[in-house]
Amino acid sequence: MNLLLMGPPGAGKGTQSKRLEGVFGLVQLSTGDMLRAAVKSGSELGQKAQAIMERGDLVPDDLIIDMISARIEEPDCANGFILDGFPRTVPQAEALAVMLAEKGGKLDHVIELAVDDEAMVQRITGRYTCAGCGQGYHDEFEKPAKEGVCDKCGGTEFTRRADDTEDTVRNRLNAYHEQTAPILAYYKEQGVLKDVDGMADIDAVTDQLKGVIGGA
Ligand code: AP5
Repeated sequence: MNLLLMGPPGAGKGTQSKRLEGVFGLVQLSTGDMLRAAVKSGSELGQKAQAIMERGDLVPDDLIIDMISARIEEPDCANGFILDGFPRTVPQAEALAVMLAEKGGKLDHVIELAVDDEAMVQRITGRYTCAGCGQGYHDEFEKPAKEGVCDKCGGTEFTRRADDTEDTVRNRLNAYHEQTAPILAYYKEQGVLKDVDGMADIDAVTDQLKGVIGGA
């Protein structure tokens, strides 16, 4: 089974993908995480992407399509995956359709997390991540059980993303509405688009997603 979670920055794509991975035995494919790893490694891709990401603009389609088409050929994707942050433009969506057709696969569910933009600024500027294992938290909405200690790995170092500032978030929201939202119409025409209320609390969103996907 292949899933695609859609929604603007802060909608909960990463949070929910990580939860659904375990439930459905799928692998999360986050193009944002892949790009941040490339930036950290100093690779050619990372060098090209860094300034673009810090502005909150989209990385060129050709770089993204090459990156994801190599990734879905890896063995851990054989049972299916959850796309988080890709596709983000109509050309990316069209390239994905070709990649899936070549593998004899398809998107089983495309689910939009429907949210309000203003709330996304609050979500993003409060977000932080365990430096050890990558577990995501929020200053207000998802705190570790013991303050300053990661629930998952016990780590005590945390990081915040360079693009999680208010100005950059607003630019990322604009990029979403101008370049990514048109994909919703593309999937609606194909009859695969569903939506859930992304403004509900985190557990309630997970329950809605399980209900839409079914079989869990
Ligand atoms: P990317 O990493 O994909 O960022 P994004 O789309 O902006 O999404 P986020 O990770 O910010 O949000 P999310 O929906 O995953 O929210 P999360 O679950 O963390 O992309 C970064 C950059 O890389 C882009 O700007 C672009 O430059 C580049 N890029 C990536 N892919 C690309 C592509 N395909 N093409 C071109 N360029 C690309 O939740 C946010 C916070 O809210 C967390 O703290 C969480 O705890 C909290 N939260 C989540 N759900 C709830 C809830 N229901 N209630 C309360 N709090 C909640």
